[in-house]
Amino acid sequence: PSTTALIVAAGSGSRAGGALPKQYAMVAGKPLVAHAYAAFAGHPAVDEVVVVIAAGAEALAADALGAVRTVVGGATRRESVARGLAAVTGERVLVHDAARPFVPAAVIDRVLAALDSADAAMPVLAVADTLVRDGAVVPRDGLARVQTPQGFRVDALRAAHAGWPAGDEATDDAQMVRRLGGSVALVQGDAMLDKVTHPDDFAAAEARVTRETR
Ligand code: CTP
Ligand code: MG
Repeated sequence: PSTTALIVAAGSGSRAGGALPKQYAMVAGKPLVAHAYAAFAGHPAVDEVVVVIAAGAEALAADALGAVRTVVGGATRRESVARGLAAVTGERVLVHDAARPFVPAAVIDRVLAALDSADAAMPVLAVADTLVRDGAVVPRDGLARVQTPQGFRVDALRAAHAGWPAGDEATDDAQMVRRLGGSVALVQGDAMLDKVTHPDDFAAAEARVTRETR
């Protein structure tokens, strides 16, 4: 089946600080978003890449990525995904955060393979630290951290977004599909996929990307 990668890069990066939104900050010689773009554009199973950008960020995106397919996003990540979905032509879509610059090809392979028998698939990593809620330890079994790219049969994701109540942002795409009764497969994630959220995360991402591309 044909596959589109949808990279969401329309956020403001407020927690990361900096002069530009984090997806345009330079990491290992390239704007952050250009790393994920290259990973999907270079993967043999990906037929098309669409990048969702903020209104007014056209010049920034062109500087970072050259002539690529862009769509203007919305005020929340969910709205940005919904707007991007309208431009997707594939039968399958991989929704990915631009803020996760390093995307191992093996994770893309695992997510796509899982879609042969599920409506959605997401990479997860087991939680290593002890967790507490209000100071009381929460058992770790069954808990995992969710990463992107999350993969979908495009009809399942479109259906989830179409009926979603405006203002309900307390979930992610795979969760939306699951809430509508769709099947969501879990596949092994990768620490390389950790997100750049706070200022210190740039140095960590730089170290990961540099290690892998040297
Ligand atoms: N995103 C988006 N549209 C939005 C909000 C977020 O496309 N309205 C994207 C971001 O660009 C990012 C991804 O969703 O690639 C994950 O979001 P997050 O890490 O929260 O990024 P920001 O929202 O930009 O950062 P912050 O929450 O610190 O402002
Ligand atoms: Mg955000």
